[in-house]
Amino acid sequence: MASSTRTVIYLSPDGPVLRDISESYRPTGAQSLLRVDYSGINPADIKHAAIGLHSSVAGYDMSGEVLETGPDSPFQPGDRIFGLNPTGPGRPLHMGAHQDFAMASDRFWYKLPASPAAAGPRRLGPREAATLPVMTLTAADGLFHLLGLGFPRAGIAGSASQGLLIWGGASTVGVAALQLAKAAGHGPIFVTASAKNHAALAALGADRCFDYRSDDVVEQIRKAIRDGGKPVRHALDTVGAASLAAGDEFEKSSPALAAASIQEDQQDGPGVKLACVLPVREDPRFKLCFATRDPDSPLPMARMADAEAWYGMQAKVMSWVVGNFGEGQYVGCPNVTVVKGAAECLEAMRRSAEGRSSLEKIVCEHPL
Ligand SMILES: NC(=O)c1ccc[n+]([C@@H]2O[C@H](COP(=O)([O-])OP(=O)(O)OC[C@H]3O[C@@H](n4cnc5c(N)ncnc54)[C@H](OP(=O)(O)O)[C@@H]3O)[C@@H](O)[C@H]2O)c1
Repeated sequence: MASSTRTVIYLSPDGPVLRDISESYRPTGAQSLLRVDYSGINPADIKHAAIGLHSSVAGYDMSGEVLETGPDSPFQPGDRIFGLNPTGPGRPLHMGAHQDFAMASDRFWYKLPASPAAAGPRRLGPREAATLPVMTLTAADGLFHLLGLGFPRAGIAGSASQGLLIWGGASTVGVAALQLAKAAGHGPIFVTASAKNHAALAALGADRCFDYRSDDVVEQIRKAIRDGGKPVRHALDTVGAASLAAGDEFEKSSPALAAASIQEDQQDGPGVKLACVLPVREDPRFKLCFATRDPDSPLPMARMADAEAWYGMQAKVMSWVVGNFGEGQYVGCPNVTVVKGAAECLEAMRRSAEGRSSLEKIVCEHPL
């Protein structure tokens, strides 16, 4: 139970470790105490230690059954829910995903439909649900907030039917962005990925796939845009490769290549819109995506004055995802790997943080 001694995956300043804790968790306010079914792994589970976000239980994404609720919780005991808890320094232990009991905070939590009829063409279960929040919310922030694209089927206003380049289509954020952009009616959608992933990405809606390792990838994309006859003015870099390390040549980084691919005839024209999942200090045109935003975010760039409108946009996206989950609509990541046991979970976290997973989302099955 949530007051007995139990093993959690703790993110120390030096990386993730197993730790026994005995803190008891009691929900207050809008919180809900959860018995975790699955926790989803993201690179940030470990990488956040490098920016000082550590010394708490690791992990963001999870799904599980509500055991107990605070007086203002929107959920009931017995509900199956999924979501994420935001990051921050001094994050309480109960917020981390990689433990058997955790607290759902007041935002970014969604109910799994009890009836299959309300759960999309392929029923959204707890395993898939634990893969969705970070990748979906980050992709939606990029597309429907930063790039200003519309998603009429979800009730989100914005530019209609735009050409889009997704650099890193096989990352989990990339594959989420691809499916959301397709469902929102945008195109052509060009993606970059390793050649082995091209067929899978085409099946999910990519109009053209390019190998980012090709020396002439920028020229290939420019030519495809010219030949297609429709401008591509929006680019979402979902990997931010080589944009952070000091000494890297910026012009070889993924944001520089993405920008160069779509701006041949437009230079710095006002129509070009660029977003990336990591900071791009060398090119101020890039806006930075975030999975969660709020007025008091510990990450200043994620703060939003009008957070309510942003929450409303994300709620519409997630509502559409829950109602349309399934082939031909939105499957999240097509490949889900389940790991069992704390040691395997630790190893999978390292694989993810080191960029060793490809078109794959990993979830830990609980109990650990
Ligand atoms: N700001 C935020 O709130 C936020 C939220 C979520 C994630 N992120 C960040 O976004 C990044 C992606 O996260 P993720 O979970 O989606 O990662 P992921 O799925 O583990 O990313 C791995 C994929 O990246 C692709 N890739 C690697 N280098 C590439 C390059 N140079 N060009 C194109 N594709 C490349 C690989 O594609 P191939 O296999 O085809 O080679 C691989 O499939 C991470 O850095 C993460 O920390 C930020």
